[in-house]
Amino acid sequence: MPTQNELTKRKEEHLRLCSSEAVAFKNLSSGFEHYSFIHYALTEVDIDSIELKSDFFGTEVNYPFFISCMTGGTADSVNINLKLAGAARRLNIPLGLGSQRYALGNNNFNDHFNRIREVAGDIPLIGNIGAAQVVEPDFIENLEKLIETSHIQAFAIHLNPAQELFQKEGETNFSGLLTAIARIKKSVKIPLIVKETGAGISAQCADELLWVGVDMIDVAGAGGTSWSGVEILRNGGDNSHDFWDWGLPTAYCVRTINELRHRYDFALTASGGINSGMEVAKALALGADFTSSARRVLRALNEKGEAGVVEMAEDWFDTVRKVMFLTGSPTLDEFRMGKIVRKEELI
Ligand SMILES: Cc1cc2nc3c(=O)[nH]c(=O)nc-3n(C[C@H](O)[C@H](O)[C@H](O)COP(=O)(O)O)c2cc1C
Repeated sequence: MPTQNELTKRKEEHLRLCSSEAVAFKNLSSGFEHYSFIHYALTEVDIDSIELKSDFFGTEVNYPFFISCMTGGTADSVNINLKLAGAARRLNIPLGLGSQRYALGNNNFNDHFNRIREVAGDIPLIGNIGAAQVVEPDFIENLEKLIETSHIQAFAIHLNPAQELFQKEGETNFSGLLTAIARIKKSVKIPLIVKETGAGISAQCADELLWVGVDMIDVAGAGGTSWSGVEILRNGGDNSHDFWDWGLPTAYCVRTINELRHRYDFALTASGGINSGMEVAKALALGADFTSSARRVLRALNEKGEAGVVEMAEDWFDTVRKVMFLTGSPTLDEFRMGKIVRKEELI
């Protein structure tokens, strides 16, 4: 069990490394470049009437987009979370909190969570814990307290076996994980999200998660931040390592998990290498209900503060509106149906 100091130091190193481009995938992309939109010359869409408002588990938000879980537990991350909360409030979108492991069974962080809620106003907050904590015996009892004190509306469990495998202090025993997730789903009253952290979720994996009742799959696929890469760098390695590019591209995860809709009612989030408005648009057209970004948001925050995050997201959704206009899609629901093809089909 790591001490609070060790957790803090690790989080600081993650933030430092993720504030650079050094942790990007090297030869594996998120896969969106393989797709093109079907231009529709006879569009009758009024671009000003396009509605992007979306439903996040019963709360209306302005865009099908949220800020991915990133930080928490360190002095720097308190400030980052407050700024992200401010940006998310201005955009009226949900905000994911970084791993709350540091606050499990520990009341010292209640003030931190109160401050985030104050700055965030009424936007949905998403709590977050890793798979390694979920399998611990007293987890559910601690989780119920955490949900109450951190004022969250949904809870995300992150699966990160590739990261743990290459982390010096990593956990490599996840036995009982799916059973633990099923138990959490039964006992917790708020929606349950399961996300990866940049290596993606396969359709088979999603099928098992949906079978036990998970409400949202957030694919967090490959092509953006490589978390095996982050840990390889922490160990003194570099991007020539065999496992640097480990994972399933985001576009592949979205397309294949979307095919499970005929069997389950669930929400699907495309994340992992969502770094532009075009990528957001392609992810939505491939069937995602929501899109989400982590490191690109951190970069916007580092460069231009809270306003930079707001500007970036508004610019991305301006692009989405233009694509919807040019594909003859008056609503997001229509945009998700048959507006995109693999490039080889255009030959
Ligand atoms: C600085 C930083 C810290 C992160 N910490 C967490 C975390 O605590 N919990 C989590 O589920 N994911 C965490 N992630 C992973 C992201 O939520 C996301 O799944 C991953 O980075 C892929 O998205 P991206 O390509 O947009 O960065 C973190 C990402 C970054 C950049």
